[in-house]
Amino acid sequence: MPYFSPEPKSNIEDFFDMEEELQLFLEAIKYGRFIVVSGLRRYGKTSLILTGLSKARQAYIFIDCRLLPQGKISINSFMELLEEELSRRSWARGLLRGVEGISIGSFGVRFRERSKGRLLSLLENLDGRVLVLDEAQELRRMGHRLDSILAYVYDHQKLKVVVSGSQVGLLHRFLRLQEPDAPLFGRPYIEVRLKKLEVEKAREFLMKGFEQEGVKMPQEVIEDALKRFDGIIGWLTYFGYASTRTHEPIERIFERASRLAANEVSNALKIYGVAEPRYKEALKIISNLGNARWIEIKRGIESRLGRIPNNTLSTIIGNLVDQGLIEKIDEMYRTCDPIVREGILKFL
Ligand SMILES: Nc1ncnc2c1ncn2[C@@H]1O[C@H](COP(=O)(O)OP(=O)(O)OP(=O)(O)O)[C@@H](O)[C@H]1O
Ligand SMILES: [Mg+2]
Repeated sequence: MPYFSPEPKSNIEDFFDMEEELQLFLEAIKYGRFIVVSGLRRYGKTSLILTGLSKARQAYIFIDCRLLPQGKISINSFMELLEEELSRRSWARGLLRGVEGISIGSFGVRFRERSKGRLLSLLENLDGRVLVLDEAQELRRMGHRLDSILAYVYDHQKLKVVVSGSQVGLLHRFLRLQEPDAPLFGRPYIEVRLKKLEVEKAREFLMKGFEQEGVKMPQEVIEDALKRFDGIIGWLTYFGYASTRTHEPIERIFERASRLAANEVSNALKIYGVAEPRYKEALKIISNLGNARWIEIKRGIESRLGRIPNNTLSTIIGNLVDQGLIEKIDEMYRTCDPIVREGILKFL
């Protein structure tokens, strides 16, 4: 599979660099029990996890928590996803045959009832395997506290758990690993944090990618792409894929990417209901200024939407930081991703 193919990578031959992070992940899988893979959207989390697990020849169950329904999540819908995933794995069918409360047939794997008890007995039977909860911050919307189930598994079973999240603050709010009264508190864990590629690495990624495709891309276009898409491997892949398949000019690809990013931001803000306009306004002010002070965001919102109390604004800014949309550097706020910024400016 070439570098520019859009699916998450799972083979080491298709996986570009990130050696340090991969090494840390492999050690964590070998010696650890609970692994957190964090990094903003499109930083390569899913690829790192899948490639790491395949390199370690580890059997795993992979739950993409973004597939869970909007709003409050029931244990029923979580276990439905588990059934689908277990049904796809032939080793799981073999392993679970004869386990009480689980039926196996041509329909795949089914729980007799979708309850917390059945979930625990399933996890017990997955001893020595790995459960991946990709984008686990979504599970904070689950009524049956999954963090207490994970803590129980940690204490009593040998199943290993990998959680990932692109909304890094929200992921930590869900796990609450540092909070003394939280279920997972005190359990040792290893965190693998993904970063952007350094500019030389990003350049190398694009050059090798185009070489794989047999395309001679002019150096100016590559330099332009590095400026626009930054070291975000997912955007670089998006650019490489689009320019080799559709032969569109870079401006068009950039515009399409930012439209996509704006859509994602718009979806991410839906949870705020009537407060959504203030969130949007905050993002627009920050994107406009490039770097914005707290007081500038406050004045900007007030000039358009009326007075906003300081604690309300703090909550809004805190939530945007936790969602990985903005970051605070030296008392200034700015968007984390240039494509997201462009999307906010043009399409939000
Ligand atoms: N190390 C890598 N080598 C080659 N391609 C990669 C690598 N990491 C990521 N990619 C590509 O970048 C894109 C994003 O990767 P991936 O889906 O793994 O990231 P992610 O952080 O899980 O993204 P998201 O936040 O959208 O879930 C995909 O097209 C993937 O193929
Ligand atoms: Mg992912």
